[in-house]
Formats: sequence, C-alpha cells, structure tokens
Amino acid sequence: MTSRPAVGDLRRARARVLDWYGPRRSLYPWRRTRDPYRVLVSEVMLQQTQASRVVPAYRAFVRRYPTLASLARAPRSEVIAAWNGLGYNRRAVALSDAARVIVQEHRGRIPSEPELLARLPGVGPYTAAAVASLAFGRAVPAIDTNVRRVVARVLVGVDPVDAASGEVRRLAARWVDRDDPGAWNQALMDLGREVCRPRPRCERCPIRGACRFLADGREPGPSARRRPPFRGSTREARGAVVRSLRPGSATTLGTLVARTGLGRPRIVEAVAALHADGLIEAGPAALAGSPRGCVRLRS
Ligand code: ADE
Repeated sequence: MTSRPAVGDLRRARARVLDWYGPRRSLYPWRRTRDPYRVLVSEVMLQQTQASRVVPAYRAFVRRYPTLASLARAPRSEVIAAWNGLGYNRRAVALSDAARVIVQEHRGRIPSEPELLARLPGVGPYTAAAVASLAFGRAVPAIDTNVRRVVARVLVGVDPVDAASGEVRRLAARWVDRDDPGAWNQALMDLGREVCRPRPRCERCPIRGACRFLADGREPGPSARRRPPFRGSTREARGAVVRSLRPGSATTLGTLVARTGLGRPRIVEAVAALHADGLIEAGPAALAGSPRGCVRLRS
C-alpha cells in the first residue's frame, strides 16, 4: 500500500493533463456534442474500434439515425447493415436493443445515472461512466485498460496493478475534474493510448514530473497482449458475411462464398457463429454447409 497522493499534487497534475488535452478537445465529432444519444453511439463504436476508424462510421450512422427514436424504430437488419464495416456486429444489435429499452422503460430519454446506464444492453461500467460524464457532466471516472494503466503508474507507482484491489478506482475517483469530468476522462484515455502506452513515451508526458512509477525507476510489466491479426481471422469472415447480406432478402451460402472470396469452410464457420449469436438467420442446409442453403440478416 502506497501513501495517499496529496490533494495539491493531484490538482497540479490534473491541470497539466488538461492543458495537454486542450488541442484535442474537439478532435473527434463526438467531442463537439453533448447529445447523450450521439455520445452513446460513439462510445459503443469505440469499445473495440480505433477512433480514426470510428469517425466515418459514426458520421454515417448518426446521419442515418439522427435520434434515439429513429434508431429504436429501425429494423435490426438495417442497423446491422448501417454499422458500416466496423466489425463486432453484436454491438449494433445491442445498441438497437438499448434504444428500444430506453424508449420503453425510460420514456425515450437516456438515463444519466451510471447504474441505470450500465443495465442497458451492450453498456458495461466503462461505457456507462463515459456516457454519464461526457453527456451529463457526472463526476465519475471512466476506467478502461489505458486509464487504469495511467492511474496505476502515476498515482500508485505500479504496473500492472492488481485490478481487484480497488485502489485505482478510489484514486481515479479522487482525480476526476469536477468542472469538466467528460474532458478529464477523455484526456486520460488519450494520455494512456498515446503516451503512457504499455511501452511508455515518458519524454512526451505532461506529468512525468509527478509520476511515481517513473520516479521509482520501475520497468513496465509485460506489454498487453496484442489483438490477433485480422486477416485470416473469424472476425474478418464474420464481417465479410454481414456486409454481403442485404436487409430483407435471403442469400445463398454459395453466393456468400462467391461475394466474399474467402472460401467455403471459413464462410460456413462464420455463418454458424453469427447464427449462434443471433445476428443472422441461417437455414439447416446453410448450417450444414450446402451452397444452396439460405442466410439472411436477423429481422
Ligand atoms: N475511446 C473510448 N472513448 C473515447 C472517446 N470519447 N474519445 C476517444 N477515444 C475513446
């Protein structure tokens, strides 16, 4: 157990991080709005996809579904198609379900309480805290892997940290900027992603003078496991199948193989997995691998 960081130290480090964040305040379209619906869409997209890839998909998605009500009304098959090649299409289904739950149970208004947000489909504690702080100014820390690493290194002086100890959560909660918690959370996300990386770039860090980890001359722990390569993956095949399907019409397995060029075994495997996840409907023949078997987006 380390000693508690002094309030003054937390405040000074916070001010430096926010200065560093200044030019990034409107870097992405979701940073130029406080519309809870847009913030929710962007945060769900950002769960597994880099910000630069999310930008065009986000723009197209909110153009197509400008309001929560329009999303809640849309057939799921169309929402999946509009997810626009982001992959991990289960997120599109969850977002569509969340919109419907919000209409039915919250009179169409996205709740501001992190606890209520976290009960929505596809919204975990991190996304709930992100939406609550960015859209509603709630002073809650949004702790993803990057932010956990920053807080653990700077304030606790360790890496990796024992996630179960709760110390990072307590310190992160004390560190939140009460005036603009949304900006604060996004500043820490950026710092963790770009500077305080698994292999840190301390020479660029605005708070290197305040970092316990650096002061103690510690070495970073084993770097986080990298995401497996995309090419040749099931994820690639799943994405290709979903993009090849048209809302409202059935397609044969043979056509999918031809359209994707990925070969029958991979398409059969991807179709079975997507069917099991409820993203598509595949008939018994398609599941058995017959080229004439039919597949459609789930309605
Ligand atoms: N990753 C998750 N949320 C983000 C945000 N609001 N801005 C940039 N990257 C993010």
